[in-house]
Amino acid sequence: MKILTIAGTRPQLVKVAPVSRELRKHATEVLINTGQHYDYNMAGIFFDELGIPKPDYDLGIGSASHGKQTGDMLTAIEEVIFSEKPDAVLVYGDTNSTLAGALAASKLYIPVIHIEAGLRSFNKKMPEEINRILTDHVSTLLFSPTEIAVQNLKNENITENVVNVGDVMYDAVLYNTSIAEEKYNLAQFGIKEKEYILATIHRADNTDSKEKLTAIFKAFAGLEETIVLPLHPRTKHKISEYGLSSLIEDGSNLQVIEPVSYLEMLLLEKYAKAIVTDSGGVQKEAYFAAVPCLTLRSETEWVETVEAGCNRLVNPLVEDLATIIQAFKPTDYSKPLYGDGQASEKIVKEILKYFG
Ligand code: UD1
Ligand code: UDP
Repeated sequence: MKILTIAGTRPQLVKVAPVSRELRKHATEVLINTGQHYDYNMAGIFFDELGIPKPDYDLGIGSASHGKQTGDMLTAIEEVIFSEKPDAVLVYGDTNSTLAGALAASKLYIPVIHIEAGLRSFNKKMPEEINRILTDHVSTLLFSPTEIAVQNLKNENITENVVNVGDVMYDAVLYNTSIAEEKYNLAQFGIKEKEYILATIHRADNTDSKEKLTAIFKAFAGLEETIVLPLHPRTKHKISEYGLSSLIEDGSNLQVIEPVSYLEMLLLEKYAKAIVTDSGGVQKEAYFAAVPCLTLRSETEWVETVEAGCNRLVNPLVEDLATIIQAFKPTDYSKPLYGDGQASEKIVKEILKYFG
């Protein structure tokens, strides 16, 4: 059996690592890297650090508008499908790389396998929501991380070949946390356990609003803790475009650093006093690390963390953002919200069962 895997962004590489490790024990995997993320610290370091096999195809698509980026990927992926003739195409999550892979395959009648199926924010202004919905509707085999995701699919009449396997990001955390502890330490960042807040910001809804970005950085300045901010390139560009560079300059409590590797990130998450983010993956990793999470969005697709009381949604434009961050102190992280850490094994078993 030949599976054509498509990935291209940082969070997809984190997810590919555990699944690919398992898949290659039982099937032939051909890996396409779309190149949606291309800076070494957004992509290459994940291949190197997580032992992801070298891609068979590097499409080198890079950044562009949604239409051009997705369209260029669609054309290039189609060509690979013609020459590789895979039994199925495997896509992850909700990025433009996901949608391009799903569209290219489904139009050629190649079954699509979607990992992280059924997630919904119910906000169609998010490009990711469009990508998720369209991908789920052309997928043949759908792997959901939760029962709520399975129910979301049911509500859209998608009921066949849907399996709740848990979250592959939990597999990744379990596999890598001790490796991270061995390899890195907080001293290299000049910080101490539970004395800093970790922040990540990259969601379009925040970065594309000067008002929201300003409010976020003003709130950070109002906190007494050090804020460690591995800065996503999208946010970096926007800060400079808006003329807000003074908000992130040295001398404040804000420690802006380049995007870090996955292992460094696991360490920074584990020992943070709190995490402030608009990332999807980081919300779950905060829960796995039992660290209070404040999500700077009005809705989340990872609703279980909010329902468990461990993640709080906050509009960045609220007046007292800094106070809200400081006051949030959840206590119960005991519920296994995202499975048992065996999602990759379950996924590969189901793929083998389906394709025989
Ligand atoms: C993409 C995904 C988003 C995901 C995020 C993970 C879509 C629509 N969005 O958002 O769902 O949460 O990845 O991080 O697929 N850039 C660089 N170097 C890079 C990559 C990007 O400088 O290696 C800059 C470019 O200015 C680019 C911008 O970041 O225009 C945005 O990159 P893009 O891949 O379009 O979207 P992300 O915001 O990264
Ligand atoms: N991450 C990382 N380095 C960073 C920021 C994030 O390794 O500097 C990891 C993070 O631990 C998680 C994944 O990248 O595993 C989340 O990616 P991102 O926030 O870019 O995307 P999203 O999950 O929102 O789609």
